[in-house]
Amino acid sequence: MNGAGNKRRGRALRPRLEKALELLGSTDVLADIGCDHGYFSLAALRKGCCERIIAADISAPSLAKAERHAVESGLGSRISFRCGDGLSVLSPGEATAAVLLGMGGELIVSILDAAKGTAQGFERIVMQPMRGEAELRGYLIKSGYHIEDEAVVFDAGRYYQLIAARYAPEEANAFPEGWPDGYYQFGACSLEKRDELMLPMMRRYLAIMENKLERAGKSGSVPPSLVREAECTRKLMDLFEQTEE
Ligand SMILES: C[S@@+](CC[C@H](N)C(=O)[O-])C[C@H]1O[C@@H](n2cnc3c(N)ncnc32)[C@H](O)[C@@H]1O
Repeated sequence: MNGAGNKRRGRALRPRLEKALELLGSTDVLADIGCDHGYFSLAALRKGCCERIIAADISAPSLAKAERHAVESGLGSRISFRCGDGLSVLSPGEATAAVLLGMGGELIVSILDAAKGTAQGFERIVMQPMRGEAELRGYLIKSGYHIEDEAVVFDAGRYYQLIAARYAPEEANAFPEGWPDGYYQFGACSLEKRDELMLPMMRRYLAIMENKLERAGKSGSVPPSLVREAECTRKLMDLFEQTEE
């Protein structure tokens, strides 16, 4: 192991990526789509979460970076590097699970939708959208995915939501009684697990919505979607507080 490799080994994984490892559990062959630097792939191998990795990115320079880090860490032989768009780099069934981390929710949706057969074959998909959480959950739910688990992480001053799902059209997603119909900005699993970050995350979100509402009010045009967003968030905060043990 050279000096650079030691440096890689010592690098702490970002909390959002640590949480993604937890949600992933263990699998055989993991596809890390949008791997960029490849740190998640390396950590997944080191933790024994999988046997092999297919690390993919649409950007050739990012993939080259991931490959360099893997070689430095001595784990390169267990990773196959592929440059390309989303799941197009995989043949159906080749990977047993996938992660799509640090991308916009809309991009994750377009990646899953462009290769439905491949996506539906994964035993688990772990996603960490940077934004567009509602769009992603909405797509998963209407497309027959079962949301198995969710988590919230506070990392470098912002909240991140993580979602673990698998295609299971026969298993409908359950929402607690009182959940606003069709509202997917926040996760029912996190609420049911009483994730301690749920309330502060919703408070922060509501403050942003109220600020937008105030500005919209001053301009004389308040979008109904914004009013619903704030109402639903308040309703979920009440629901969270009501279910307090
Ligand atoms: C912000 S980085 C996230 C890196 C890493 N997954 C993480 O969470 O730390 C997003 C990565 O996704 C890649 N990407 C964007 N669109 C993609 C696509 N359609 N297919 C594969 N990779 C994509 C980008 O090139 C970039 O490296």
